[in-house]
Amino acid sequence: MAPQNRMITLNNGVEMPILGFGVFQVPDGQTEQVVTDALAAGYRSIDTAASYGNEQAVGRAIAASGIAREELFITTKLWIQHTGEDTARREFDKSLGNLGLDYLDLYLIHQPLGDYYSSWRAMQKLYGEGLAKAIGVSNFFGDRLVDLIQHNDVTPAVNQVETHPFFQRQADQQLMREHGVQIESWGPFAEGKNDLFTNPTLTAIAAGHGKSVAQVVLRWLIQRDVVVIPKSVRPDRMAENLDIFDFELSDDEMARIGGLETGKSMFFDHRDPAMVKWLGGRRVD
Ligand SMILES: NC(=O)c1ccc[n+]([C@@H]2O[C@H](COP(=O)([O-])OP(=O)(O)OC[C@H]3O[C@@H](n4cnc5c(N)ncnc54)[C@H](OP(=O)(O)O)[C@@H]3O)[C@@H](O)[C@H]2O)c1
Repeated sequence: MAPQNRMITLNNGVEMPILGFGVFQVPDGQTEQVVTDALAAGYRSIDTAASYGNEQAVGRAIAASGIAREELFITTKLWIQHTGEDTARREFDKSLGNLGLDYLDLYLIHQPLGDYYSSWRAMQKLYGEGLAKAIGVSNFFGDRLVDLIQHNDVTPAVNQVETHPFFQRQADQQLMREHGVQIESWGPFAEGKNDLFTNPTLTAIAAGHGKSVAQVVLRWLIQRDVVVIPKSVRPDRMAENLDIFDFELSDDEMARIGGLETGKSMFFDHRDPAMVKWLGGRRVD
């Protein structure tokens, strides 16, 4: 049986587990086993992307699991190379086929780059047809998000952005909340950058609860109502990362973690022209 989880209700009434599992940088050859292990551990929400190159392997694990479709929450994303109205529709069909599904729970625009307004028009149609139960975006800073909302019919249900103790996105979350957009964290552990797993503040708080730094970070995020999708290829860590519903951080502990904010990305700046050029030139097939 799946361990306890909490459901978040998106702006269209769709329910999404607050804790899911991500498969970025899981090699294609390892992904089927990793997702099989994650489903066995109790995860029901899986986050992949066309650009991760492992949708088919995710699909095989889902099919082999025997878990009822309605118990699962499956997300994938449209890459920049495939923005455009017709292309987005075609790529959606391809992703759905790769995953072996007849609908997606959440389809995201992966980056606010390329002709993503046309993609959004296609995605609004997919949503209207029930092929994507919810549609959203990823890596949208506030200005891009508000502009997309203002000039379209459907407000994104989710904005998946880098969010962790060193880049906390409090103001971004507030803006999203004002527009009915659910924040979802990618890189909840900052992939271990900036020595996250040995950070003295996090280590001290973890020791006080008999929990790990990873569990404290995930708990801090879900107490902020941030959806999380930690990645691990190790079953022991998959179980550890799920085991966050039996303790609570105090206001003081939340504030101490708040003090770790650096105000900048641990990865790269999506507004840096060199990065925009690099991302836009990346081909995924
Ligand atoms: N939309 C986007 O642009 C975007 C970008 C990045 C990520 N994402 C999504 O967000 C998901 C999560 O982000 P992420 O994979 O980049 O990084 P992450 O979840 O912050 O960190 C993953 C790293 O932490 C390690 N780890 C996991 N659990 C641990 C634990 N309990 N103790 C110690 N180490 C632990 C993993 O190692 P092991 O695997 O060896 O355990 C891996 O090295 C991705 O998988 C993807 O689905 C989206």
